[in-house]
Amino acid sequence: MGVPYNRRTHRCGSLRKFHVGQEVVLAGWVNSYRDHGGMVFIDLRDHEGLTQLKCNPETDPKAHSVARTLRTEDVVAIRGKVVPRGANINPKLATGEIEVEVCEAELLNKSEPTPFTVDGAGEANEELRLRYRFLDLRRAAAQKTFRLRHLLGKTIRDFFHDEGFVEIETPFLTKSTPEGARDYLVPSRVQQGSFYALPQSPQIFKQLFMVAGFDRYAQIVRCFRDEDLRGNRQPEFTQLDMEMAFVKRDDVMEIMDRCIQRIFRDTIGVEIPLPLPRMSYQEAMDRFGADSPDTRFGLELKNVTDAVRSTEFGVFRSVIDAGGVVKCIVVPGGSTLTRKEMDGLGEEVKGIGGGGLPYAKIQGTADAPEFATGVAKFIQPVAQALCAAAGAKPGDALFFAADTYSNVCKYLHHVRMRLAAMTKAIPPNKWNLLWVVDFPLVLWNDEEKRWDSTHHPFTSPLDEDVHLLDSDPGKVRAQAYDVVLNGQELGGGSIRIHRRDIQQKVFSLLNISEEDARLKFEHLLDALSYGAPPHGGIALGFDRCVMLLANQPSLRDVIAFPKTQRAVCPLTDAPGPVAEAQLKELGIDLRPEVKARLAESKS
Ligand code: AMO
Ligand code: AMP
Repeated sequence: MGVPYNRRTHRCGSLRKFHVGQEVVLAGWVNSYRDHGGMVFIDLRDHEGLTQLKCNPETDPKAHSVARTLRTEDVVAIRGKVVPRGANINPKLATGEIEVEVCEAELLNKSEPTPFTVDGAGEANEELRLRYRFLDLRRAAAQKTFRLRHLLGKTIRDFFHDEGFVEIETPFLTKSTPEGARDYLVPSRVQQGSFYALPQSPQIFKQLFMVAGFDRYAQIVRCFRDEDLRGNRQPEFTQLDMEMAFVKRDDVMEIMDRCIQRIFRDTIGVEIPLPLPRMSYQEAMDRFGADSPDTRFGLELKNVTDAVRSTEFGVFRSVIDAGGVVKCIVVPGGSTLTRKEMDGLGEEVKGIGGGGLPYAKIQGTADAPEFATGVAKFIQPVAQALCAAAGAKPGDALFFAADTYSNVCKYLHHVRMRLAAMTKAIPPNKWNLLWVVDFPLVLWNDEEKRWDSTHHPFTSPLDEDVHLLDSDPGKVRAQAYDVVLNGQELGGGSIRIHRRDIQQKVFSLLNISEEDARLKFEHLLDALSYGAPPHGGIALGFDRCVMLLANQPSLRDVIAFPKTQRAVCPLTDAPGPVAEAQLKELGIDLRPEVKARLAESKS
């Protein structure tokens, strides 16, 4: 008959002192096994926690002999009685006041020795953990993260349902929906030589929903982007995607304010004050050098171009003469930084394309500041003006960047984030959310000599800037908004273009020919000519949201079966080769050099 594992009375994390005396049935995995001179102790684990089992050879010899064969990760069911632990209370364990005296034990499935201990999985190398992800996910921390992920999904669905939104699915086998990455392509069998693209986002479809009169749409949806992977990017990821008709910017931001407040309240019990602060793109770049500024700490960028205009320092001189800018970061008390640390930062700046990172320390007095080390001798003549412009005082350190405005932003943003880590300037448990608004509609791509969308080509210009589309496109601001959390872009959206003529104008500004626009976006252009209401929306990175709420360092920690940096799934070994017959059916022949490489890797 065995232990009735289908009639578990409790989960492994739930027994307390008041259960003492009850008979219970538990099932789970062996977390650990100890033999204390005949008495066998087992920590039994399930998704809720651990319970200590005690198997006594005198009173229950049968259960004890089963228990003696058990090893970690074996699957077991037991029947037993809850007893107090007496003097051996374990305050670290929720169930630490009790243990269960086993009277019947049944081994349900034996486990092979595992490639890493589930308890210590955090230390195993990541590739191995992903190869055996089903073991990795058994960890209490992983269980917690994915339950938080579930809760986030439920919270969002409840919120949007209450607000009158409908969830409608959009196709995965579709035509390119551009968001600036490469498409994943799927070959068609019935139309050989033709390909579907997996959507980079449901952008066009959600706009079509607005034209169709759904008024408010929200979907938790998978997106696919073939882009260079980093810790905060995955090739397939999830968005909370939403769209609303008859709205202006403020309406979308206002409802998202409340959505975000509800998310923090219902998932981690944190109260976010509303409205979320707003900052213009220009201010974010000026003060932080980044369009997703981390406002949890200072170390802001100071423009000192005027203060150093008269120096003879060649690096500053040539940049100023060429119309560039000189900015700096002041590290309060930074005089304690070592030369090695400061030079190290300079090497990092070189690594991202810069010429170096001039620096100096300030000594002397507020009235007579004296610079030391680095470029001290060059800037000493402008000491007073420089300290005033930078807001620096004796004891501080200064780091400079001199280059074009956008390069200075790039270098000093990097330096700022590194300095924050080095000087431990980021306070823990802080949730700094803000909106960044008034992005430029387009950015000049100097390599390809053309304008690129800052967001995507469907973003509407500010009404008052439309007249600049022809004359000065770089000055046109977009009706776009990003929401930023602790320096990471959590989401972005915009009011869309709902007039065909303006959409065509923006396409042509982006160098998308009429012919190309018709090929790629005819369905959208059509829809815009059949009564498209004004509309707008936003998408939040769902995985990023979980990552930040769960305080995890990588997206891979919050996606059940993630890809590695090389876009590989170590568990399934995807992507993999397919049979020649399958390719033939699709009308596909691999290029000779690819075939040769495959043959080589097989032999
Ligand atoms: P966007 O491209 O800014 O906008 O994407 C919205 C949010 O999705 C998340 N995200 C990612 N998360 C993980 N891995 C990735 N590779 C990845 N790429 C993006 C980010 C980002 O802020 N259709 C528009 C939205 C709109 O205009 O309504 C869009 O997709 O958190
Ligand atoms: P030098 O006068 O060459 O010794 O340089 C003085 C400081 O200026 C050094 O700390 C360098 O890191 C920095 N530096 C030199 N060249 C550049 C450059 N092209 N751009 C930015 N910083 C530079």
